[in-house]
Amino acid sequence: MTEASPRPAPQLESRALLTRLVADQGRAHWKGYLLAFAFMAVIAATTSLSAYLMRDVINEVFIARNSQAIWMLSGAVVVLYTVKGFATYGQQITLTRIANAIVGSVQRRLYGHMLAMDVPFFTERHTSEFVGRLSFVATSSAQVLNALITVAGRDFLSLLGLLIVMIVQDPMLSIVGGIVMPLAVWGVQGLVKRAKKIMRTEFAGGMAVLETMQETVRGIRVVKAFGLEELFRTRMEGQIASVQAAADKRARVGARSVPLMETLGGFAVAGVILYGGWRVVSNDATPGTFFSFITALLLAYEPAKRLARVHVELAANLVGVGLLYEFLGQPAREAEPAGLPDLAVTGGRVEFADVRFAYRDGEDVLNGLSFVAEAGKTTALVGPSGGGKSTVFALLLRFWDARSGAITVDGTPITAVSRRSLRSKIGLVSQDVFLFAGTVAENIALGRPGASPAEIEAAARAAHAHDFIVSFRDGYHSQVGENGLQLSGGQRQRIAIARAILEDAPILLLDEATAALDTESERAIQEALAVLAETRTTLVIAHRLQTIQRADRICVVEGGRVVEEGRHEELLAAHGRYARLHEFQFG
Ligand SMILES: Nc1ncnc2c1ncn2[C@@H]1O[C@H](COP(=O)(O)OP(=O)(O)OP(=O)(O)O)[C@@H](O)[C@H]1O
Ligand SMILES: [Mg+2]
Repeated sequence: MTEASPRPAPQLESRALLTRLVADQGRAHWKGYLLAFAFMAVIAATTSLSAYLMRDVINEVFIARNSQAIWMLSGAVVVLYTVKGFATYGQQITLTRIANAIVGSVQRRLYGHMLAMDVPFFTERHTSEFVGRLSFVATSSAQVLNALITVAGRDFLSLLGLLIVMIVQDPMLSIVGGIVMPLAVWGVQGLVKRAKKIMRTEFAGGMAVLETMQETVRGIRVVKAFGLEELFRTRMEGQIASVQAAADKRARVGARSVPLMETLGGFAVAGVILYGGWRVVSNDATPGTFFSFITALLLAYEPAKRLARVHVELAANLVGVGLLYEFLGQPAREAEPAGLPDLAVTGGRVEFADVRFAYRDGEDVLNGLSFVAEAGKTTALVGPSGGGKSTVFALLLRFWDARSGAITVDGTPITAVSRRSLRSKIGLVSQDVFLFAGTVAENIALGRPGASPAEIEAAARAAHAHDFIVSFRDGYHSQVGENGLQLSGGQRQRIAIARAILEDAPILLLDEATAALDTESERAIQEALAVLAETRTTLVIAHRLQTIQRADRICVVEGGRVVEEGRHEELLAAHGRYARLHEFQFG
């Protein structure tokens, strides 16, 4: 169950990625793409027709001096360009809407898959990785498809139409003009691989920038207090410079197709002028044919250039698509067989029997830990820092799974029931309180979404939070700031307690829940928690032994085992580890 490091990502091939993306998203939006395609066909047709018209412009107007044709031809051109304008508008709107829909759907999928991951998955990664993925991966998926459809649609069709015009006007001349095409394709191939590699570097660098940015914001007090501004500035500058260099390089590689295409285009036009001009001079062809051909060739030049370049762009964006499928391809680590029964809590007796656990191989944290928290009683875990107390809570909530031994609630192994039901029966006030951006009331209400304002207030009163909350100008509607940074440590803790009280679960876990409070508030909360503890199984972790003296049972956890247990008086009389801890604290 416990995987120490993220598994190596399978590198999917570009073609496989494209096929998958088209199957995934293309299929969902095929109607929209069809519409866009129709618009593009219109664009291609109008472009080709305008080139075709050049023959009549030259032959009728310049050679035959036909005044009626002037009116006809200018009218036709106006119509053609107007139609082209509207078709372009339609194509742009359609493609953008599809792109937005794809970005949304990819984000929803990524986020859904993320939520299905277990806690270790998140502890192995930096938050910025998720932020970066969500934006980069989603937009690149949309860009790949749109680039593909624009190229396949507008550029390819236009090129095709113009080629037809050229062939109709002069087949022989077309061969002269088209000879450069294979050269262009060959020239661009080499650029693709490099673009991909650079994009990967650029993405990794972008992640590092995000990471530093986030850490600086979250740790701003440490940065300031220790005078770390210069250190962080230097680190950030290095990262920004490497992203900048990668982006420059990608632009260079991407633009390298331009001189290639320009030069080849020059050769094509020159070839046509030489051969076509010679035919006009020797009276084998009309000037109209020649001009129509040249116009088609010049018009074909833009789409051809884009066709050549799109390869490079596709390659870069496919890196994002690769990341998407790599992530979606990882098994949802919290997935469980359907039909797993819900946990039924009768009394709430929790038992750990010979539990062994390690976060990392070879570093045992729990070594055969056993204890019983009797139903409806308060059990305290005490012991030195790093002894494994919080780990006991993490295993009970199945954030991690034990490597061996059994953890049961009312005799049912916790692995035999659904995680959701297990967690819904357990309330938690964790060692480091987390508050979400939003109001005080919203944060308390997370204990039981949909709770009424009266219920929220009752929970806040029980947690001795009501008084300080109403002293704020906005009362329960005061913003707590990111991670509750606009509140004091003790205030955050009391909001977390209120949240757990509101949840009203039959098993309550309190990890140093009153550590940040003054003696007076602590005593008041102790009393409130004591009332709660009367009707439920409570597990308390505390460093200050004073707070657990009235516990029904005290377990001393040391080196991943329970080394001593009993009531306060019994343990004092035994003169063991607990008595020593007690002596240290009370002299
Ligand atoms: N996510 C993690 N990954 C790896 N090791 C961890 C992780 N969390 C905790 N540990 C390690 O597990 C051991 C037990 O940690 P735990 O948090 O259970 O201690 P604790 O008894 O709650 O300590 P404290 O009283 O300081 O809160 C420690 O050595 C710690 O370094
Ligand atoms: Mg702890």
